[in-house]
Amino acid sequence: MHPARRILTGITTSGTPHLGNYVGAIRPAIAASRRADAESFYFLADYHALIKCGDPARVQRSTLEIAASWLACGLDPDKVFFYRQSDIPEIPELTWLLTCVTAKGLLNRAHAYKAAVDANIAGGEDADTGVTAGLYMYPVLMAADILIFNAHEVPVGRDQIQHIEMARDIGQRFNHLYGSELFTLPEARIEENVATLPGTDGRKMSKSYDNTIPLWLPAAELRKAILGIVTDSRAPGEPKDPDTSNIFALHQAFATPAQSAAMRAAFAAGIGWGEAKQQLFELIDSELAPLRARYEALIADPAQLEQLLHAGAARARGRSAPFMLRLRHAAGIRRLTDVPARARPAAAATVALPQLKSYRERDGLFYFKLEDTAGAMLLHSRGFDAPREAGQLSAALVEAGDDLVALKRLLLECVPANELAVPIEAVAAALAVLKADKLARAQAKAH
Ligand code: TRP
Repeated sequence: MHPARRILTGITTSGTPHLGNYVGAIRPAIAASRRADAESFYFLADYHALIKCGDPARVQRSTLEIAASWLACGLDPDKVFFYRQSDIPEIPELTWLLTCVTAKGLLNRAHAYKAAVDANIAGGEDADTGVTAGLYMYPVLMAADILIFNAHEVPVGRDQIQHIEMARDIGQRFNHLYGSELFTLPEARIEENVATLPGTDGRKMSKSYDNTIPLWLPAAELRKAILGIVTDSRAPGEPKDPDTSNIFALHQAFATPAQSAAMRAAFAAGIGWGEAKQQLFELIDSELAPLRARYEALIADPAQLEQLLHAGAARARGRSAPFMLRLRHAAGIRRLTDVPARARPAAAATVALPQLKSYRERDGLFYFKLEDTAGAMLLHSRGFDAPREAGQLSAALVEAGDDLVALKRLLLECVPANELAVPIEAVAAALAVLKADKLARAQAKAH
């Protein structure tokens, strides 16, 4: 059996989903996620949102709306990896390792950065006016998103192709320096047969043209927005050309082939624009109404969504946390007693992990202790009468990982609270690594 192909894409959380996002990205991605031979990774790119958007309320709201949208449209969070970028600390961590191998000249050539500089120069400004280091580093953060999960394919729009090429360049450079087996080099996948939807003014539906129809308008407002789409002035009874009509293009994006053929015939027979728009509304609403109901329910319960994203991040970290240990090790960020990977080809499998050890003392009681990767003591349990009791508690600790609430509760059972020798965050971090490693092993076994 060949290993599954990994498909990964990110959605920047700076806006409200519109019909163009639904047809061009959400719907095809969810269809692709049902492919049995692939693993899908979809994430909310909230760190990327900060580059474009300085409005905290908007970033939070957009994250909520986009998460709810993908789930309402049928994404199955048990079948795919669905997580929020900022819940994966390995992404910013890898961003730094990649930053250190990325040529500044490569970033100078990025389209978005160059466009900002060119606009400044054309306007007689200093080249860097209003340009943040975040904009400049955008491609490196995106490379980290992709490389941390060793994605094979990245479905994106044409405007993102250069970013994928940069991720390849950066990954290749890292491989060259630190070990050629480390990163899979990703490829952009451009969906050729997915429609780009026209907006209300006939140009491509896009936030930057201010011609979008929001995805989750209530039915009456959706109808109003559709009736407001610009058309030519042909009267009812006059034949109309479907192939130059934005109404027909929108209809086609939602219709079955038979429905599309019927609309084509109606155009030839001179259907009035009002009637065509009414039929278009009914078609779109019949697809969206059941999804809209799910969306409303999801958005009304942010706590449940928060929990779902948290669970998604824990699963994703099952991959990213152990891989990050390998990457750190490869780059020389490792304990002083570690043997360099090059001198020992199998080193990848034996990267230092924190240790959870159980043992029996002379007093006849059962204990466990947690040590960090350097062997320093993080936690020492009280004594238990039965080994089972100690075992269950230490397993529960690993399960809690860096969930501080659960962790505090468990710690009361196994260590008197005032006996913790280190900050609880240090214990949590070590447990999170163990949890991630355990998940990764279970997943590796399942394959
Ligand atoms: N830059 C992408 C966009 O604006 C969003 C994104 C962030 C992304 N990280 C990614 C897409 C990683 C694919 C893979 O559309």
